[in-house]
Amino acid sequence: MSDLTNAATSAPRVTVIGTGYLGATHAICMAVLGFDVLGVDVAEDKVDRLNAGEVPFFEPGLPELLTKALDSGRLRFTTDYAEAGAFGDVHFLCVGTPQKPGSNAADLTYVESAVSALAPHLNRRSLIAGKSTVPVGTAARLAGLVRELAPSDEVELAWNPEFLREGFAVEDTLRPDRLVFGVASAWAEEQLRAAFGPVIENGTPVVVTDLPTAELVKVAANSFLATKISYINAMAEVCEATGADVQQLAQALSYDTRIGGRFLRPGLGFGGGCLPKDIRAFAHRAEELGVGQAVAFLHEVDAINRRRRERTVDLVRELAGGSLSGVRVAALGAAFKPDSDDVRDAPALDVARMLQEGGAIVRVYDPQAVENARRAYPDLEYATSTFDAARDADVVVLLTEWNEFREVDPNALADVVAHRRVVDGRHALHAEGYRAAGWEYRALGRP
Ligand code: UDX
Repeated sequence: MSDLTNAATSAPRVTVIGTGYLGATHAICMAVLGFDVLGVDVAEDKVDRLNAGEVPFFEPGLPELLTKALDSGRLRFTTDYAEAGAFGDVHFLCVGTPQKPGSNAADLTYVESAVSALAPHLNRRSLIAGKSTVPVGTAARLAGLVRELAPSDEVELAWNPEFLREGFAVEDTLRPDRLVFGVASAWAEEQLRAAFGPVIENGTPVVVTDLPTAELVKVAANSFLATKISYINAMAEVCEATGADVQQLAQALSYDTRIGGRFLRPGLGFGGGCLPKDIRAFAHRAEELGVGQAVAFLHEVDAINRRRRERTVDLVRELAGGSLSGVRVAALGAAFKPDSDDVRDAPALDVARMLQEGGAIVRVYDPQAVENARRAYPDLEYATSTFDAARDADVVVLLTEWNEFREVDPNALADVVAHRRVVDGRHALHAEGYRAAGWEYRALGRP
């Protein structure tokens, strides 16, 4: 990444508020790019772990970069907002916007409290750049809050949505597909261009726009991705009723360059801390704005996605002979996707929970997410390896497509299970290999 490094003396000093998946990655990468960075979080334990060189979550490549950034002396973390206010020229806002309990709306508590904590310490010209995913109109409202609370009247607010994918967070931060700058002045644009200098020099396209458009870009992008996944999963439902094969259908569609094959992988569907809550919050916000009908299809996208989870449970039940009662199930995967330890709205754990509620004895194994899964679902049983989970199982169900699971030898696995029955919830296993080893193999949308 040396070609990206830029330690220009005129570079703005950067704070990153919130050190979760997004903020920690952003802070570390900005320091690696040559900026002086201060990460801020209210959680003291997180700040201590990061200052000690420990990334508090699983993200490939990030621990090495954290070490590099700390060694450079350009990165540290604090809980002190006064220090952040004094330090930063550009303050990136990276706190979470989860789904509000009991509603489809986004919970803006963390965004509001971060701005309220930071603004009173802004005594000089500086920029707050929001990266969190927020309902359109939030930035304008926060700008009002900043005007009210900041001692300097030269503090501006911009929106710079973040598109990073977990598992590819480093690459997506250092070499994003695009940068979007929602700004209210040429000065704010200049600040953001300076803060992303090395990334822009690397050829990244920049879209400069207003605040509401920048806010909308993010939810529009995630809604499109979710729709694409639900589209192919809707085709899987039709395939199930007709004996057609959705995997071959998806392959055939993917060669049409107008459609493309990415995000067209059928299976158990989408989960995680972004796609599900973002489409719900978007639909909710659109209803508030009186344009709910324009994105009403997102409710169907959500419903298709939920049905995949139920259908996966049905397949396990069918393979087990019609009842889940007392059936031993090996559940392979807990994270919402491979190369992550994130279990927020994880389809895998939802399926494991439903199987257990149906009377099955479920043992879950995941290469990285067992600890988080145990915290979220303490009543499930957890195993220490694929073979540990599969021992004496009546049905094996693959729920997250880690490479480790793809590479399992179906003959070796056959030796430890009680019955050779496998449900491939992610179309990730080699069906013929399993069948040749004597397994009954079933996958959503395939004969
Ligand atoms: C997503 C967006 O991709 C990213 O741009 C945004 O910043 C945050 O939300 P992420 O949540 O990390 O990123 O995961 P992503 O790779 O998009 O996958 C989301 C879910 O969709 C996963 O559960 C995955 O298993 C599922 N998925 C993805 C499919 O079911 N089929 C596909 O073809 C692709």
